[in-house]
Amino acid sequence: MKNLSGKQIVLGLSGGVACYKAAELCRALVKEGATVQVVMTDAAEHFITAVTMQALSGQPVYGSQWDTRQPNNMPHINLTREADAILVAPASADFLAKVAQGRADELLSLLCLARPAQRVPLLLAPAMNREMWAHPATQRNVAQLRADGAVVLDVGRGDQACGETGDGRMLEAHELCDELISFFAPKPLSGRRVLVTAGPTYEAIDPVRGITNRSSGKMGFAIARAAREAGAAVTLVAGPVHLPTPRGVHRVDVVSARDMQAAVAAAIAQADVFIATAAVADWRPAQSAEQKIKKDGSGQTPQLHFAENPDILAEVAQSERARSGALYCVGFAAESHDLLAHARAKRERKGVPLLVGNIGPATFGQDDNALLLVDAQGATELPRASKHELARQLIAEIDRRTPGVAGKS
Ligand code: C5P
Repeated sequence: MKNLSGKQIVLGLSGGVACYKAAELCRALVKEGATVQVVMTDAAEHFITAVTMQALSGQPVYGSQWDTRQPNNMPHINLTREADAILVAPASADFLAKVAQGRADELLSLLCLARPAQRVPLLLAPAMNREMWAHPATQRNVAQLRADGAVVLDVGRGDQACGETGDGRMLEAHELCDELISFFAPKPLSGRRVLVTAGPTYEAIDPVRGITNRSSGKMGFAIARAAREAGAAVTLVAGPVHLPTPRGVHRVDVVSARDMQAAVAAAIAQADVFIATAAVADWRPAQSAEQKIKKDGSGQTPQLHFAENPDILAEVAQSERARSGALYCVGFAAESHDLLAHARAKRERKGVPLLVGNIGPATFGQDDNALLLVDAQGATELPRASKHELARQLIAEIDRRTPGVAGKS
């Protein structure tokens, strides 16, 4: 099942260099299963052609309210009545000003005004020079648009086409696509705060060598994303992995198990749910050499001594808040065999209400997985699916098991 299957999206383009990203965005939306109807202003057509957008969306593009292709000659009505959302990307400063004022002198602003506002949400992805974005007039318009119920998305920061650097870039196509997917997701975790650990840890032997494991972090990142999509405020404590931060998630990067322990300790008081997916190293070298250990040609190998790492999950699970039920703890177990028996035993040992088992070698680095949920009532299988899909199912299962947690309505 694609993330936007069955959704009808009106993709509006107003004038701006960021129109080039709208082509990628259109492709991404179609790939996720959406039907995309492109509407372009005259200014947008100076930056990208309707031909490109028609080819990518597979639908004729509309650009004028006087278009005679509609039998009743009312594209502003016809294009909005069946839509699930209107997404304007890029939304220029001028376009924001027009919509904020309720003006409607061309098709795109006209259909924003004519849409059934209770049923068809309007999302705007601003794109402009940093001075234009910071100008009080633009900020006033953004505040007005939000007060009127539009969703004005964030802007990105960085190099701008004009050569300046600052706030005002349009979000990237994949970010906008994720925003839309997240927008449509139900919000059962709204008002709740979720802390997730993910990835491996790295335990230094010396400045250039260390001990780590094959955890890719993908499952934990997918869980952080799913929790965010479900409306939670999410903090993700990540070991060394090269994965993009899910949108809207607060990420804290750590290296070793002890770094992870400190980051969790700093954030745990503000969490209602703790999900420990990280593959924390059980041991670390007792001493990490300050200089690289050199091979001296004698054939002698260095003697490594190990110290046990803190068990972050077990510590958190024993805290007062976890034992009173104010904090719901979820552990993971990566096993190679006898999943149910090991997961049951680990649940007891860690003292957590929910333990999620998976077969480590079958999932490390992969995009899919299968999960076995073990709680006091028994075991539930979540059959093989993408990690994103499983993460959503797991979040729904956690939601079902946490009726009394603070913030849940
Ligand atoms: O002890 P083991 O690594 O098998 O348990 C796995 C679970 O415990 C995972 O949820 C993992 O994130 C957590 N864990 C931890 N700190 C450790 C070891 C594991 O939080 N030192």
